[in-house]
Amino acid sequence: MTSQPTPTADPIPAEDTNWWRSAVVYQIYPRSFADHNGDGTGDVRGMIDRLPHLAELGVDAIWVSPWYPSPLADGGYDVADYRDIHPDFGTLEDADAFIARAHELGLRVLIDLVPNHCSDEHPWFQAALAAGPGTPERELFWFRDGRGVDGELPPNDWQAMFGGPAWERVIGPDGRGEQWYLHLFDVRQPDWNWAQPAVADEFDDILRFWFDRGIDGFRIDVADSMAKDPDLPDVAHGTSNLTKSVGSPLWDRPELDVIHRRWRAVADEYADSPQGARVFVSEAVLPAARVAHYVTPERLHTTFNFDALLCEWTAQSQRHMIQLSLQVHDAVGAPCTWVLSNHDRVRVATRYGKPITGVAYGPEGGSREFTPLEEEEIRAMPTDVALGLKRARAAALLELALPGGAYVYQGDELGLDEVDDLPEESLQDPTWERSGHTVHGRDGCRVPIPWSGTTSPFGFGPGGEPWLPMPARWAGQTVADQEHDPTSHLALYRAALAERKRNPALGDGTLSWVASDAHVLDFTREPGFRCIVNFGPDAVPIPADARVLIHSGDPNSGRVETDEAVWLAI
Ligand code: GLC
Repeated sequence: MTSQPTPTADPIPAEDTNWWRSAVVYQIYPRSFADHNGDGTGDVRGMIDRLPHLAELGVDAIWVSPWYPSPLADGGYDVADYRDIHPDFGTLEDADAFIARAHELGLRVLIDLVPNHCSDEHPWFQAALAAGPGTPERELFWFRDGRGVDGELPPNDWQAMFGGPAWERVIGPDGRGEQWYLHLFDVRQPDWNWAQPAVADEFDDILRFWFDRGIDGFRIDVADSMAKDPDLPDVAHGTSNLTKSVGSPLWDRPELDVIHRRWRAVADEYADSPQGARVFVSEAVLPAARVAHYVTPERLHTTFNFDALLCEWTAQSQRHMIQLSLQVHDAVGAPCTWVLSNHDRVRVATRYGKPITGVAYGPEGGSREFTPLEEEEIRAMPTDVALGLKRARAAALLELALPGGAYVYQGDELGLDEVDDLPEESLQDPTWERSGHTVHGRDGCRVPIPWSGTTSPFGFGPGGEPWLPMPARWAGQTVADQEHDPTSHLALYRAALAERKRNPALGDGTLSWVASDAHVLDFTREPGFRCIVNFGPDAVPIPADARVLIHSGDPNSGRVETDEAVWLAI
């Protein structure tokens, strides 16, 4: 029998009630993290096997993307049962074992709550379909008669996020079209009607179900979408509901306040539990200035900072974005988070190697976000992978030095690039079909993680075709390859996270800008820490009296070259 290392002390101390203000959270996309049983799909046992990697990496918490039973029409963000685990991923007992083992290793566990919509296979939606028009079952969703002579037109002009109308017509048992239901995302993701008390009660119960199993918090999927104007009005002529304009009948509505407060009250019920109060992170693609009121002390704890993710790689835009993020969060007493990637966006090493690296930021915030078609155009532009990687290293040091918490998307610690040459027949993102094969979608950042070996499946599993093909070019980039190479991307992340743990200047707190060239970001944090990031053409000399803690380039160069960053002890 092999013996497991026994933890010495309780690694999740209840008295550390502010852990989330500084936490570095690692995102696991379960389907693609580690495949224990060799069926080509990641699973919870695989996640347990690989927990030591995360403990060694030095993150504080894990966020697990949906692991619930689901037809996987949207990679699991279509939940058929909120209180169980997808059979391809494992069982509830596996989930319990994962949570327990993570806690033994000192890692907090957040899971995904998907409250805007469920799967069309959810029993309540199936019951609503069967019950027919005018029944209480249908009230739990947004069923409406269609417009036109025979109800053949959708009830309003809203568009779905993945393309096409946000309405699907139900076909009755007689084969004729009857009512329509609302789905802001895929046709297989009907929206819940949060105006119904039964929906709100059900979600309170789901929160408690998982809090009682020991999770430390939830990432709230599309936290800005649950409330809708009950009249479901058309959006103004010529504008798309996808733009999230202020006053929208479906996004960022004032009614969300009640929903968020209600969740907070449930989380706070656990304040006296051994691991302390539980937390929420809001996922809402909104500018910081609009999303900051989601994280007042009575609502959610932190927001996933999309400004940081969307911002282009220039000193000027990054400075404006950072200032604005800090200012609006500070005003409500919430810490910022810093984010480079997630399972919905082109991987950072690829993004930063493109001629267009993101959107511009000024003192008032970011310019308009790219449309899916514009993103598709950028995607088709050539990538300078070496440049992208160099910038991704510097960006990692920048984000981990800023005040607050940070997110690491699985594989970013390896510097993985986007797999943008997936065979079209392997694409699974609903966007590909819904856009009529014009937008490839998000599969390129969801390819399984390469752990070891020189050919696919690179240690992802013991065999079996990975659910998305893994590129041969990842040979040499596996965890095993990088683990003992002090110049690797992984080594940089490990060093930065270790420094973050021991250096009291890092994590939650404030920064002071040091006057610098317009192409350089230079700031200090107390006590005795300085970070310099060079976006410009000229090398920046490292001050003689400073000691290099970590350098994204050559630590002995005495300089910070273009697209490099350094951490200094001063
Ligand atoms: C969030 C998720 C994304 C999902 C969508 C609908 O944006 O991150 O993956 O498709 O919500 O649930």
